[in-house]
Amino acid sequence: MTLIKKLLLVTFGVYSLSDVVTSETFIFDSLLGKLNDIPQYAATLGKLNFTELMEKYSLLPSNISEDGKRNFTELANAYGHQCEEYNVTTEDGYVLNIFHIPGKGRPYLLNHGLVASSDCFALRKNNSLAFILAAKGHDVWIGNTRGNDYSLSHIKLDAHKDTEYWNFSLHENGYYDYPAFIDFILKETGQEKVTIIGHSQGTINTFVLGSVRPEYNDKINLFVALAPVAYFKPKGILRSIIDIVPANMVYSELKELGIVQFYGDRVIRKFIQSLCTQKTGSYEICWETSIFPFIGNDAESYEQEFSNVLAGHFPQTIPTKTVCHFAQFTKRNKFAQFDYGTAENVIRYGATTPPEYDLSNVTMKVALFVGANDYMATIEGADKIKAKLPNVVEYEILPRKQFNHFDFIFGNRVQENFYPYLFDVLDKYP
Ligand SMILES: *[C@@H]1O[C@H](CO)[C@@H](O)[C@H](O)[C@H]1NC(C)=O
Ligand SMILES: *[C@@H]1O[C@H](CO)[C@@H](O)[C@H](O)[C@H]1NC(C)=O
Ligand SMILES: *[C@@H]1O[C@H](CO)[C@@H](O)[C@H](O)[C@H]1NC(C)=O
Ligand SMILES: *[C@@H]1O[C@H](CO)[C@@H](O)[C@H](O)[C@H]1NC(C)=O
Ligand SMILES: *[C@@H]1O[C@H](CO)[C@@H](O)[C@H](O)[C@H]1NC(C)=O
Ligand SMILES: *[C@@H]1O[C@H](CO)[C@@H](O)[C@H](O)[C@H]1NC(C)=O
Ligand SMILES: *[C@@H]1O[C@H](CO)[C@@H](O)[C@H](O)[C@H]1NC(C)=O
Repeated sequence: MTLIKKLLLVTFGVYSLSDVVTSETFIFDSLLGKLNDIPQYAATLGKLNFTELMEKYSLLPSNISEDGKRNFTELANAYGHQCEEYNVTTEDGYVLNIFHIPGKGRPYLLNHGLVASSDCFALRKNNSLAFILAAKGHDVWIGNTRGNDYSLSHIKLDAHKDTEYWNFSLHENGYYDYPAFIDFILKETGQEKVTIIGHSQGTINTFVLGSVRPEYNDKINLFVALAPVAYFKPKGILRSIIDIVPANMVYSELKELGIVQFYGDRVIRKFIQSLCTQKTGSYEICWETSIFPFIGNDAESYEQEFSNVLAGHFPQTIPTKTVCHFAQFTKRNKFAQFDYGTAENVIRYGATTPPEYDLSNVTMKVALFVGANDYMATIEGADKIKAKLPNVVEYEILPRKQFNHFDFIFGNRVQENFYPYLFDVLDKYP
């Protein structure tokens, strides 16, 4: 492989390593050098030298807190709630985990975002969304889509051995995973409709579902979309990376090398845990340099100790195909199915380009909540979604100016700057 190809491969998974490239951390430095040519990032990224970080932090012990080590059930129990675990099998054979905190009335389904799991709704002690809803007496279900640590089983495939297991994109999460959750919940509860709250990729999957399986619109009472994405118009460093990297080519290269997922590697997970949980230096490296440039800066909402919780649960494994699908959204400026390239598109879809998801099919009631400083689910993207959806009952740009992509679920000020707005809407559509 040429150096440029290697560079592109790693650029594509900028904060991840796979078995093949673990020893080649120097490539990260080349990437950082490349991004350093973009003046707006030079100041922050100039401080990062990946080789040095890897050498230094891989050897340091990590400091994961108690909540960082607890699974969802243990977190729920710790904050005063009973919790049940179920397995749900999709039409295409994936065995997914779903947690349940029993309560009364209409069921709520919480859907996590990219590189996250159910736990993202449970990491802020009794202020966590799952526990706040439960404390109000609601019946709360928390899903885990295919590929994260809770949902790694399949009736035939082995996630650790079969690359075919990871052959999915944003399409399959919406088309298979969510119907399996919804039908299971409705069957278990005897209710007719569920209220869905989704974050980030959890919103994409719901828009996909409502568009390609429109019969599911009737099973959804209200969809609360936090940091909504369909048209993916990120700002800042992520936009620069997507612009630089030829995503389709890199995806094919990775596939040829047998690299089908990111963050599954224990070495990189351990490295991230050590890097992000040190008393000194970690906040600068992990939050200020590695996270805020992607999601929008809101330093007041995150304290270093929270890293010691978060790093135990985040990031989760994702397929390279999903990452590529995201990049296609931005590059093609379309909310559409996976683009396999002209020739293969003709075979699969009967057209040279992939079919677009038709948001006019998404007839469920939708409430859109947008962060003014969200670099991923930007106001520009949300406005475009709003314009295409037929049944938007609420569109709210939250008043806090620094409100970023994570603040909905991880921010330490949700009680003041988010929940009042959320509960206004939930109470309006019980
Ligand atoms: C990173 O550090 C290594 C080891 O100190 C050094 O060899 C390399 O040149 C540095 N890379 C950059 C981009 O500064
Ligand atoms: C969570 O932890 C509990 C208690 O240790 C254990 O019984 C349960 O199987 C775990 N659940 C999952 C999904 O890992
Ligand atoms: C769900 O499936 C996993 C993997 O097959 C298994 O380990 C776990 O015990 C199952 N959990 C339940 C509640 O059936
Ligand atoms: C959360 O826990 C804190 C400290 O234990 C307590 O003071 C507060 O009332 C609790 N809040 C809720 C919503 O349960
Ligand atoms: C991957 O998934 C696509 C779409 O579902 C399917 O057509 C294709 O045959 C799968 N490829 C492999 C190698 O399993
Ligand atoms: C929209 O829904 C109709 C059925 O109501 C379906 O035939 C059509 O394929 C859907 N559109 C898309 C883009 O999936
Ligand atoms: C580990 O983190 C906790 C806070 O979560 C802190 O109180 C403790 O001092 C840290 N220990 C080390 C060795 O950094």
